Amino acid sequence: MPASRTVLLTGAAGGLGTLMRDLLPAHGHELRLLDLRPVEGEPDAIVADLADRDALREAVRGIDAILHLAGISLEAPFEKILKANIEGTYNLYEAAREAGVRRVVFASSNHAVGYTPRPVGDDPLIPVETPRRPDTFYGLSKCFGEDLAQLYWDKHGIETVSVRIGSCFPAPTSVRMLSVWMSPADGARLFHAALTAEDVGHTVVHGSSSNTRLWWDLGSARALGYEPRDDSEPYAGKLLAEQGPLEPGNPAHAYLGGPFVTDPPIWPY
Ligand SMILES: NC(=O)c1ccc[n+]([C@@H]2O[C@H](COP(=O)([O-])OP(=O)(O)OC[C@H]3O[C@@H](n4cnc5c(N)ncnc54)[C@H](O)[C@@H]3O)[C@@H](O)[C@H]2O)c1
Repeated sequence: MPASRTVLLTGAAGGLGTLMRDLLPAHGHELRLLDLRPVEGEPDAIVADLADRDALREAVRGIDAILHLAGISLEAPFEKILKANIEGTYNLYEAAREAGVRRVVFASSNHAVGYTPRPVGDDPLIPVETPRRPDTFYGLSKCFGEDLAQLYWDKHGIETVSVRIGSCFPAPTSVRMLSVWMSPADGARLFHAALTAEDVGHTVVHGSSSNTRLWWDLGSARALGYEPRDDSEPYAGKLLAEQGPLEPGNPAHAYLGGPFVTDPPIWPY
């Protein structure tokens, strides 16, 4: 894989897309932007719905890879998730297949395995092979995306790294996030590794910084060449003083997916 590549960034107007627009060019990537909404300050960005197959065909022409962040990023009615996350991701892979794009990085989520109990005490870190346990229709759509990625690798030779992102925000805002936080700079490092590592087939990785309170194993991410540099621990004192420790009896504290496991999910968190 060449170091400098043209990458289609879907979801470019979103929170993570905005962070990555700033950070990925320094890793040598030239970005083509796409979102349902206009992207502020980016008049050349493609404004298109993932439902628009013609627009996707046009968007993928001549690119080397796709960083697929677009979609509904919280729980929503199934019909909406179906359209944006399930059919939308399928439409994008079809466009990639037709255009001969060889690499996708898919924004999966901890919510694909959200009903996995979080480690307590000396419990081992959650391995990336842990069985799927989606905590929402949203998480279920991420399971679909990972399976779609596997199918397009096995059948069509399109490589994907599915990144089960924890929480990628400028700073952690909850005690749970201390364990799954991915700093934006580490996010860019991980996406860069996922875009450029050789021979990934379909690889699933956990996406977080090297947090002191880490819940999951970063081995498959490190195997791509990802070297996290950040740790949420400097935020721990303040967040614990404000919110108190996680309570094992509280379902929103007991599982990897946090408040997404409750019905309905607790917002905000
Ligand atoms: N931010 C995180 O910590 C986190 C954690 C886990 C997974 N993820 C995943 O990463 C991706 C980005 O997350 P985010 O926090 O930036 O979410 P976000 O909601 O801020 O951004 C998503 C973007 O996708 C666009 N979009 C939605 N439906 C679309 C459609 N049909 N066609 C085209 N564009 C569409 C939206 O307009 C929005 O700009 C999402 O797929 C999310 O599920 C994020």
